[in-house]
Amino acid sequence: MNTIVAPSLLSCDFSRIKEESEMLNRSQAEWFHLDVMDGVFVPNISFGLPIIKAFRKHTDKILDVHAMIQNPDDFIEDFKAAGTDILTVHYEACTHLHRTIQKIKSTGMKAGVALNPHTPISLLKDVLKDLDMVLIMSVNPGFGGQSFIEGTYDKVRELKQEIDAKNLETIIQVDGGVNTKNASALVAAGATALVAGSAVYKSEDPMKTIEILKNA
Ligand code: DX5
Ligand code: ZN
Repeated sequence: MNTIVAPSLLSCDFSRIKEESEMLNRSQAEWFHLDVMDGVFVPNISFGLPIIKAFRKHTDKILDVHAMIQNPDDFIEDFKAAGTDILTVHYEACTHLHRTIQKIKSTGMKAGVALNPHTPISLLKDVLKDLDMVLIMSVNPGFGGQSFIEGTYDKVRELKQEIDAKNLETIIQVDGGVNTKNASALVAAGATALVAGSAVYKSEDPMKTIEILKNA
């Protein structure tokens, strides 16, 4: 299977951005997953535009930015200018989601919407066809290293059904607690992109772990 692997750099060593990028460049990971947190939408602050720019300097791979920020609309152009290829915003953080999606796409970036564990798939019904990706959170956003929520499998299956019924090619990304043990079940349920932070960076051989996830 051609699963997209997107290591979450939240768990990397930020004093070594160049080396961390080089490792991912050599690996089978297609995307760099960058978790931007504002301390408002989620109870944590991570990093912002300068760090995205720094990774952009060291890779030609896709920069997949997961914006865990309230009202992302004002920063869409800035994310684009920093080198973002795919911008994912949270359903729960956007009052005018349809407008936000159109604005992201008008810059040339791909548009994703993330759903928190409590947010049902059905709420995306009217915008699904406009999306390049749906990110299903399998933990509550804000931190790396949390345990995977088992109800995620059903959610992935339900989303896959919706996408197939509408003949769409929307990417289904799963983020949070993904590891070499649950990856194949997620892919079997319909996931097409896997985000993994601690599973990659806490493993003895990150490149090997990426390869296992890639073949899940
Ligand atoms: C959590 C972030 C994730 C996180 C995943 O809010 O969106 O991308 O870094 O980390 P792990 O894989 O350790 O759960
Ligand atoms: Zn993320």
